Amino acid sequence: MSGARRTLLLIGIGAGDPDYLTLQAIKALNRADVFFIQDKGQDKQALRHLRTEICERFIEGGHYRLVPFDYPTRAKEFSDYKANVASWHGEIEAIYARLLRDELQDGQCGAFLIWGDPSLYDSTLRIIEALHRKSEIAFDYEIIPGITAVQALAAQHRIALNAIGEPVHITTGRKLSAQQPLGGESVVVMLDGEQAFTRIDPEVEIFWGAYLGTKEQLLIAGKLGEVADKIASTREAARHSNGWIMDSYLLRRPR
Ligand SMILES: C[S@@+](CC[C@H](N)C(=O)[O-])C[C@H]1O[C@@H](n2cnc3c(N)ncnc32)[C@H](O)[C@@H]1O
Repeated sequence: MSGARRTLLLIGIGAGDPDYLTLQAIKALNRADVFFIQDKGQDKQALRHLRTEICERFIEGGHYRLVPFDYPTRAKEFSDYKANVASWHGEIEAIYARLLRDELQDGQCGAFLIWGDPSLYDSTLRIIEALHRKSEIAFDYEIIPGITAVQALAAQHRIALNAIGEPVHITTGRKLSAQQPLGGESVVVMLDGEQAFTRIDPEVEIFWGAYLGTKEQLLIAGKLGEVADKIASTREAARHSNGWIMDSYLLRRPR
């Protein structure tokens, strides 16, 4: 009976400002019976609050349930990165299977509120796909796109991502190497805990943003030779005072 299947909605909520929510996301919020709210510990409490605030602000009637769940942390000690991630995803999949089975009834709709957009550096979609293939409980799932940190960064700095006819490369701090050729292409770096920009040619321009779209937002731009130290110290001070940080940046040759 397809009408009685459970549905999971992966709703992109934008990367910071609740005003980034699209009309499609607001409609999706109002379809959900249950919201699965991940708890990533003390540091990210601010992000959890933002998710509950979004529900309070945009859902009419208040007929929904919040189901918090502990999000497992990835093992810090490992020899094989991919195997380490696979085992962590396995743990999360088991939690999602339990939520689907125990917290949703046939015909009901559950939702995950995904930071930014579900397609970019977020594992929820991959894990739900795996569960969909294997699960004993039949369910449908839908993706609602959101404004990514990349779009927020470009908008706040008032820059285009690409030079005319040139590519944009999106990567992580771990993958950004000093050898990265920066010809005409722009490179957007996310998930950089090691301040990899400090290893890049000082002539390259950086457009850096932290806590984009929130009241804590920080923006710095300039040639790396002139602003790299300032970004590093600003980043460290903000991380210390807020207890967590999310920052992204774009690198390009001056035009
Ligand atoms: C796990 S990824 C999630 C990306 C998200 N799905 C998106 O569409 O933007 C987290 C990384 O996104 C970037 N990020 C997310 N929100 C941000 C924000 N408000 N300001 C700056 N960077 C942000 C940071 O690089 C952070 O390390």
